[in-house]
Amino acid sequence: MTTRLIPIPMSTSEVDVRRAKAARSWSLDSELVLICAGYPIGIPGGADQTFPYKPHPQYRWLTDRKREGGVLAFDPQDGWTLFEPALAEQELIWGGGDPPVGRSLEELDGWLAARKGRPLAALGANDGLYATDQELSLRLHIELDHARRPKDALEVDLLRRSAAATAAGYAAIAEYIRPGRSERQIQVEFEAAIARAGADGPGYATIVGAGPNSAVFHFTPGSRQVADGELVLVDAGAEVDGYVTDVTRTFPGGGSFSSDQAWLYGIVRESLDQATAACLVGAEWLDVHAVAARVMGSGLRDAGILKCSPEEALTSGAIGLFFPHGIGHMVGLGVRDAGGPLPNRNVIREVGGARIRMDLPLEAGYVVTIEPGLYFVPALLNDAKRRERFANQVNWAAVEPWIGGSGIRIEDNVLVTETGPIVLTDSIPK
Ligand code: GLY
Ligand code: MN
Ligand code: MN
Repeated sequence: MTTRLIPIPMSTSEVDVRRAKAARSWSLDSELVLICAGYPIGIPGGADQTFPYKPHPQYRWLTDRKREGGVLAFDPQDGWTLFEPALAEQELIWGGGDPPVGRSLEELDGWLAARKGRPLAALGANDGLYATDQELSLRLHIELDHARRPKDALEVDLLRRSAAATAAGYAAIAEYIRPGRSERQIQVEFEAAIARAGADGPGYATIVGAGPNSAVFHFTPGSRQVADGELVLVDAGAEVDGYVTDVTRTFPGGGSFSSDQAWLYGIVRESLDQATAACLVGAEWLDVHAVAARVMGSGLRDAGILKCSPEEALTSGAIGLFFPHGIGHMVGLGVRDAGGPLPNRNVIREVGGARIRMDLPLEAGYVVTIEPGLYFVPALLNDAKRRERFANQVNWAAVEPWIGGSGIRIEDNVLVTETGPIVLTDSIPK
């Protein structure tokens, strides 16, 4: 075992500010907190192979460290202490690695023993490593995620760099998509272009779905070739130093939309524009969803697919048959960053029959995705119970020709500011 401990460098001012913010949000007296980075996860049956490792975002945010196994400890009576495991010789040989900083992880037991009897919370990737007060841990977890929501200048800069790389990826595939190209070829072109533009790689599994596959939300690209007349949905984003943008564009496989597709696309585009404009400081996220849902409800009523008003489509949940995914989520450290309800709300309320990922008012500095879409998913639309439940709202005969062939979604990332929304992904044509 090699121990090469290097004294912790002066924290960057951002890390100091973040720690102060976290401590303020917790307002602790004698309770102790551990924030755990976590460890790589082994591939089942894969011997020494692991899935790519990322530190838990709570740990990364409070330390700006990326090594596995680290634990940041907080004692309100004497501040923050970082513990990291020493690099084992085998790790140096096989993986190289960033030398540890702070105190050796082996000293954490002594740090805890010196504070025996005080309540202990564990956040980040604790995974049962430390026996803790569960109720306290949950409260501090929720408060820390809430404190992390507004992005600081360093984070916005990384998101802008991610957006620029994502834009390079979309620029590379815009002309590349054509009949005969496979979903996987499109994925490879995108991922090569973002890497050339400075990304560390894709921030999540790239989605490319052609034809019927466009109606599968998280479709894994395969060998299917694009055909003329099909829709091609691409949902992909670059990661830069842990920060991820999350962008979707829907392309006409043969170069131009059919009139029906253009009509559907126009509704989604209008919904995107109106929901983006609604991203104002103080706006309730559920209301932003409702803005998008009403626009799409109105479009589907005009097309004869819905028989009810946009308001009834929202209150009955009928719009959720076509827009089941919710208007978006936060991005930042990963493609899903710090979602959930406001600390004192406890649960995410329902709206429009959709899966909503957060329930809170927007604040300056939040970066959210706005991703309205209209999908015709067989599993939802061929379900007898739903057909009966929504018999008064949906003209099922008019839905039939669309089922299984179409998914249209457009997704941008929006920075909320005191002076209005800024679309970080605006340079990507749509
Ligand atoms: N990329 C997955 C999503 O849009 O949420
Ligand atoms: Mn996406
Ligand atoms: Mn998204």
